[in-house]
Order: sequence, then structure tokens, then C-alpha cells
Amino acid sequence: MSDPKQHEIAGHLTVAAGNGGLTKLLIETPWSTAEIHLHGAHVTDFRKTGEPPLLFISAASEFAPGKAIRGGVPVIFPWFGPREGFPAHGFARTAEWHLTRASRTREGAVTLHLSLPDAGDFEVGYRIVVAETLTLSLIVTNRGSAAAVFETCLHTYFQISAIDAVSLNGLTGTRYFDKLLDAEAVETAPALKIGSEVDRVYQDTAATVEIVDPGFQRRIRVAKSGSASTVVWNPWIDKSKRMADFGDEEYRQMVCVESGNIAGHAVTLAPAQRAVLQAELSSLALD
Ligand code: BG6
Repeated sequence: MSDPKQHEIAGHLTVAAGNGGLTKLLIETPWSTAEIHLHGAHVTDFRKTGEPPLLFISAASEFAPGKAIRGGVPVIFPWFGPREGFPAHGFARTAEWHLTRASRTREGAVTLHLSLPDAGDFEVGYRIVVAETLTLSLIVTNRGSAAAVFETCLHTYFQISAIDAVSLNGLTGTRYFDKLLDAEAVETAPALKIGSEVDRVYQDTAATVEIVDPGFQRRIRVAKSGSASTVVWNPWIDKSKRMADFGDEEYRQMVCVESGNIAGHAVTLAPAQRAVLQAELSSLALD
């Protein structure tokens, strides 16, 4: 593996020892800072100057080879959810990715290109643009000779002031699969409030979702392209207690709004075709 240090940009991109001795990249821009672990190509921090972190990261998270990091933006590929005999949510989030390129614009935006080794017939790249917003693009090319099917998800954990203070906009009228009830339904809430465990895959939706957070006086915006599924997840009380790498009370400070292509919306690529899943994460002051 090439040394990521060769891509350092003085004062703007630094390679450092991350948690658990993993390698992390520290980014500084005129608007924001970010931290990316090569383990999982995992964005573990993004914050705008003067604002609380945009991303939640569990104080109980493991940072170790073979283990998924709890929080930030896990990259889910090539399957979402459990798979008999294989790790849940695919192998990308526990793989050691390579940093292949980095650049900085005159204005100060920093772009990183990472690649996932040993992905079989898939060529998998991940572009991260750190600026006033955080733009994540997962780029999958089928290098095989037959059509290939896969799922993707940018499993984003957001930091919120309090779960009972926030509401989610953008999903009204959307059909979803409720993983807890094993049933489909249509979202009727004009603004979704979370007051119990939620695990839903919204289907056929390209809509921007906003998390309105009066406690932090901000609106988090998840805008996406190349994605037909949006997952909303909060483990609530009992599941939080069952998860070893998540604090019992941390469900109050986070919500996942995930952009992906799941189940009936899995991606099929003919040989040499490419699919790009992109999510732009931003925050705006509440009026
Ligand atoms: C969500 C799934 O996206 O991820 C949930 O919809 C799952 O069902 C959650 O519990 C966390 O998964 P994991 O593998 O990181 O514990």
C-alpha cells in the first residue's frame, strides 16, 4: 500500500495516528474541519467552525481492525443488513481503504479520493469533498464480464441536541418498509418525530431530508443523487442497551438518515457500467 503521507497538503491535510492506532486524515478548510479513518473510509468527524459536530460518534465505539466504527459515516457495500455467514452491512466498512489522490482548490475546499482494495469484479472509489458542506460520492464500476447486483448506503449518524427536540422533513407521502414490524406503510406525518425505536427503509425517494433541530438552532440537510432509498434509524432504549459499542443513553443524541440503494432498489450494472451514489451534508441556521 502506498504511504498516505505522500498526499499531505501542509496545513490542510495531515496523516496522523487515529484511535486504536488506525490511520486517520485530518482536514482543515476555511469553513470546517474533518477527520477520516482509512479503516472503512470512515468520516468520523465533520464540523463547521463555531457549530457542534455535524456527525455523531459513539464514546463506546471500537476502533480496531475487523470492527465497524459506530457513528460518523459507515460506507455500506456491497450488501445492506445481515447476510448469512458474512459481516452485516458488507465488507467495505471494515476494509483498509487506500488514499489515492488529494487536492485543494484556491478557495480552500479539500478533495480526497480513496479506493477499496480486493473488491472482486468491482472497482470502488470514494470521493470526499470537505468544504462548507461535506460531499460524499461512492463510485462503483463493474469490471467483470457479467451483470452485477449490489446494495449501497452512506449510513450517516447525525449529532442532534435531543431526540425529542428534532423532527424530520422530506419523507411525507413516501412508502417505507418498517423493519421492526416487517411491514410496509406510507409516511403520513408532515414532520416525523421519533419517540420509540425506528428502523425504516423509505423507498423510491430521491428527496432531500432535513433534520430540524431547535436545540442546536440548525437545520441539517441531506441532499442526494443516485439513491432511491433513505433509511431512518434510531435504536432507542432497549436496543441501545443490547449494543456493546453504543452507550445506553446515546440514542438521545443521534439519528441516522442514510442515503442508499437497498432491497428492491439494489443497483444492477452491466459490464463496464458505473453507478455514483452521492450525498451532500450541510447545515443552515434556523430562521
Ligand atoms: C441500520 C439498519 O441502517 O443499521 C438497522 O437499518 C441496524 O437494522 C443499524 O440495526 C446498525 O447496524 P450495525 O450492523 O452497524 O449494528
